[in-house]
Amino acid sequence: MSSWSPDSWKSKPAAQGVAYDDPAELARVTAKLRELPPLVTSWEIEKLRSLVAEAQEGKRFLLQGGDCAETLADCRSPIIANKLKILLQMSLVLIHGGHRPVIRVGRFAGQYAKPRSRPTETRDGVTLPSYFGDLVNRPEFTAEARRADPVLLLRGYEHAAMTLNFIRSLSAGGFADLHHPEYWDLSFFQRVELPESLRAGYKQMSSQIAEALRFMEALGDSSVDAMSRVDFYTSHEGLNLEYESAQTRAVPRRAGFFDLTTHMPWIGERTRALGGAHVEFFRGVRNTVGVKVGPSADPAEIIELLGALDPANEPGKMVLITRMGAGAVESKLPGLVEAVTRAGRRVLWVSDPMHGNMIQTASGLKTRDFDQILREVEMTFDVHARAGTRLGGVHLELTGDDVTECIGGGITEGDLDKSYLTACDPRLNYRQALEMAFRVASKMTDGRTSA
Ligand code: PEP
Ligand code: CO
Repeated sequence: MSSWSPDSWKSKPAAQGVAYDDPAELARVTAKLRELPPLVTSWEIEKLRSLVAEAQEGKRFLLQGGDCAETLADCRSPIIANKLKILLQMSLVLIHGGHRPVIRVGRFAGQYAKPRSRPTETRDGVTLPSYFGDLVNRPEFTAEARRADPVLLLRGYEHAAMTLNFIRSLSAGGFADLHHPEYWDLSFFQRVELPESLRAGYKQMSSQIAEALRFMEALGDSSVDAMSRVDFYTSHEGLNLEYESAQTRAVPRRAGFFDLTTHMPWIGERTRALGGAHVEFFRGVRNTVGVKVGPSADPAEIIELLGALDPANEPGKMVLITRMGAGAVESKLPGLVEAVTRAGRRVLWVSDPMHGNMIQTASGLKTRDFDQILREVEMTFDVHARAGTRLGGVHLELTGDDVTECIGGGITEGDLDKSYLTACDPRLNYRQALEMAFRVASKMTDGRTSA
């Protein structure tokens, strides 16, 4: 393979590439991004890698979740805090059910770039570029708004930094400590809309956790401090390589290059072509890298892709995020799992049950059905159990707010327009997300007791 540099991707074809019309302005912006301090550090990236390596051995479970598309306008304290709270609560449910520590990874602090199925959009005979996320252009349907604006790369960086600053402050304060039940106890939220069964299940679980913490402290167990700390890692789709490469550096006293925009970038289903720019870029960084894999993937090609991204088959490097759809998972996933196992590849298997289960209502709204989402996760657990491998995480689009974007779990098709706010794909709302955590946890409990 030829030599790698943070810019070697530029000689490869980029799917979903952005057409910037002012190269001088783009160069000014990326030069600035190169100078600005990194959003995350190399030791955090290495720490996450070691946790993912343990998850690959079945010792941890990964919970990755957040918006389909973050927006600059949603960089607001209640929205960010609610996302942390739901991720924290879900993680506790999963720890309780799975008897394994959970790695919390948000789709946040940089999830601003979106791949689109069509490069342009036509309304009333007018054709303009599609909206590619707030890192690239703006959603309003005017030529001015849809122009790819390089300055948005800087705005995205700044908003990611502000988001991360708030997340880090919360994590360093009470949020990081399970001794503060006000952050994870449901009563704090006064969530009246939660069904009684969900509320009671959560209450029982949280009092068991509190009891266990007190018990371990009474024993004088010193690991309780480390155990009760709550950490969050960041992730986003590494789609805009101008943005990613401008923040990719070598650091003192460590080998290799780090993409310092995020802890765990992933390559999307539409940009994982073997000879393409995204694979070229991400083969050169030390970060743990996710790859989305849909039902059209050829297992042999995924083996080649793993070889390109992770030639030394290193612990903690690769996360395969399968998103087959409930209708295809039983026919498509076994062959992939078998090929990866046969090739001796070290991966963390994660299920994204969102992107293969999109449906459209009669009125044209994009939605997803809670039961289909759950079915894909459950069938993915079963496929791995039959193959002797292990599902090591879930990847969900969710929010901590009471939106009405997915049906099921208390939302009917008629409710969808009440609070349909997503900038891209429909997300699980607070109640649906918590319920999903309980269902996944119960599947993990079943797996434990039948094993
Ligand atoms: C996404 O995660 O929002 C996404 C676009 O996923 P995929 O690449 O799997 O289609
Ligand atoms: Co999405």
